[in-house]
Amino acid sequence: MGRGLSPWGRGCVQAALGTCLLISLQCDLTGWWENDLGSKMHVSKVDSQGNFSGKYYTAVSSAQKPIEPSPLIGSQHLDEDGQCTFGFTVNWKFSDSTAVFTGQCFAGEGGEEVLQSTWLLREKVDSLPSDWKATRTGHNVFTRLG
Ligand code: BTN
Repeated sequence: MGRGLSPWGRGCVQAALGTCLLISLQCDLTGWWENDLGSKMHVSKVDSQGNFSGKYYTAVSSAQKPIEPSPLIGSQHLDEDGQCTFGFTVNWKFSDSTAVFTGQCFAGEGGEEVLQSTWLLREKVDSLPSDWKATRTGHNVFTRLG
């Protein structure tokens, strides 16, 4: 199977007998996503400038309090090649922490949208000498739920 680019923002996946399956290469984060930890997020409509807001439903937490859905705000590029970069911040409502995610949209082998992301999670510490241990980093992969 090969892939090609067509001029109207779609990709051609070469299928049997020289046929071409057109797949959309646009990347719009609007909708429901799930990551490899089982966390879910809902992105409300991305506006014409690429700005969006939404809710994050984390599956895991290091906080003492019960997990609650938390607001996110972010922006994405609107390139038509399906490989936009994006970033968003989650302000956890049940914890003093803040998370930022940045990443890029790709098409998986079957043409499905895959968001590769890297995050920083800043937890609140009680003094400057503890600053060194306040930030964690990691990687999450999101796929679309709907
Ligand atoms: C906290 O523990 O203080 C708040 C919840 C943090 C959840 C983190 S953010 C990065 C990682 N990816 C997820 O989907 N959840 C965890």
